[in-house]
Amino acid sequence: MVDMRVQIGPLELRNPVLTASGTFGYAKEFEGLVDFSRLGGVVSKTVTLEPRAGNPPPRIVETPAGMLNSIGLANDGVDRFIAEKLPYLASLSTRVIVNVAGKSEEEFVAIVERLERESGFDAFELNFSCPNVKEGGLAFSSDPKVTERVTRAVRRVTSRCLIVKLTPNVTDIASIARAAEDGGADAISAINTVVGMAVDVYTRRPRLATVTGGLSGPAIRPIAVARVWQIAQQVRIPVIGVGGIFQPEDALEFLIAGATAVQIGTAHFVQPDAAIRVAEGIENYCERYGFRSVRQIIGSLDTTSPDPSSAAAISTE
Ligand code: FUM
Repeated sequence: MVDMRVQIGPLELRNPVLTASGTFGYAKEFEGLVDFSRLGGVVSKTVTLEPRAGNPPPRIVETPAGMLNSIGLANDGVDRFIAEKLPYLASLSTRVIVNVAGKSEEEFVAIVERLERESGFDAFELNFSCPNVKEGGLAFSSDPKVTERVTRAVRRVTSRCLIVKLTPNVTDIASIARAAEDGGADAISAINTVVGMAVDVYTRRPRLATVTGGLSGPAIRPIAVARVWQIAQQVRIPVIGVGGIFQPEDALEFLIAGATAVQIGTAHFVQPDAAIRVAEGIENYCERYGFRSVRQIIGSLDTTSPDPSSAAAISTE
């Protein structure tokens, strides 16, 4: 029996596998398809203070080994989230993390203050990294001073676990992660999507109405693993790895590189139970290779020399 528990700040997860924001709705959409009690937790779709219609269509495009999205944080706003979505989330036998976004520091503080009064969830994930909105979005995780200031302002109004989700679209993500840590974050989620673009060569028009969007899926996984590795060496708080995880081996890459937990995102569009299969695969790997606790593999990367035989040696089946 492998001990699969991991610790994210004050929060213990039964296993290190979470769902990623924006890919799992508000969990209700997956009822009957997923046994939520086998997940480490679910992260809700981003909630904002006011309702948002989001960007005009087309706002999703399939790409080789990935997906471009430009949803624009469409959601019903915090009041309807509390009335209509939170009761179901609160009923789940897993950890619930509410992802929030604001256009300004004041809005981040206001939405967290509003939600803090409610029960039924365990943590906040601050979306400092949406590439598809004009106000806010990437700005919150592009300048370490802004990241630290806004994190600190939110930290003052919540005693819940506080996770900050960062963009990879910066020169030095580790310095932004350090700023979030200095501001009082309990953990870092990395990475959000990579800014990308696709063109229809026959019409010579962009495939997304907003021209650019956020690229997710296996295409970005090596970028995400590298960012997690860089961050993990620079902060003391846990890092949650996100980016193109479809298989258990993908998640293991993140854990070995230094992530304490992972989030499964784009895989949900093709396999609703992807997160559970990943959690099972990690457990099988631990059993097979003699790890009594999943925590033993976190940050266990051996950088002394790449092993050309490893591809053949590792199996999670
Ligand atoms: O456009 C969107 O709603 C994307 C959000 C995100 O990447 O955080």
